[in-house]
Amino acid sequence: MKNKLIAANWKMNLSAVQSAELFKQCASLAQTVPSDLIICPPATYLQMGNSMLESSGVHLGAQNVNQNLAGAYTGELSASMLKDCGCAFVIIGHSERRTQFNESDEIIAAKVKAAIENSLTPILCIGESENQRTLGLTNSFLTYQIDSALSLVDKTQMKNLVIAYEPIWAIGTNKTPSIAQIQQTMTTIVKHMYKKYGENFTDSSVHMLYGGSVSDTNCQAILSLDVVDGCLVGGASLNFEKFEKICQAS
Ligand code: G3P
Repeated sequence: MKNKLIAANWKMNLSAVQSAELFKQCASLAQTVPSDLIICPPATYLQMGNSMLESSGVHLGAQNVNQNLAGAYTGELSASMLKDCGCAFVIIGHSERRTQFNESDEIIAAKVKAAIENSLTPILCIGESENQRTLGLTNSFLTYQIDSALSLVDKTQMKNLVIAYEPIWAIGTNKTPSIAQIQQTMTTIVKHMYKKYGENFTDSSVHMLYGGSVSDTNCQAILSLDVVDGCLVGGASLNFEKFEKICQAS
């Protein structure tokens, strides 16, 4: 039986003082909630997070990684640098990076490979647009995104993998799919993983998260679904009281 996994994506928010306060609150949270927690702060606060979360049981994650091992990539961070900061996880393929920073399927696949080969667990984000959902293209698009993102890793490397289903139209909008839609879509993803990676994909090795306008008011219903192993939380993770309620719901 897997613990539920609640991951916080702080995106490009908070000052150093605000981050220190939230790290401190989250560090104490780990002892009082049934879920496993991952905090993904802006990269400038990773070292702070590493020291403040140390021995708390809360995991540290990054919001991005470069696909290269080292070199002339101004402004970028490698997987080994993230490991040196104490990261165990890294968000890859977030829709904001795919759209605003033109991250192609090929780049995302290379990032997944770099993360796994450096013992970082990818939190691979996939999700359809509103238009794709309206046109009934959701399932085929998501299975394409999975196969593309995992195209450079060996099946036996699937041991540590987190997939976050984040419909693009639900991110930051206070809109979410219905509970039935979340159940149907994430079940389709799991069935595809069994079909494609069966002998190496056991549902105990891959965590399936839902992300996109998760709040303290909808989290109980979402986390009650068997297919949902946890949530990837954006805006609500910046408010400790709301984030605490989400972690308690799991
Ligand atoms: O990575 C999680 C994020 O995209 C969801 O954002 O604000 O809708 O919870 P939000």
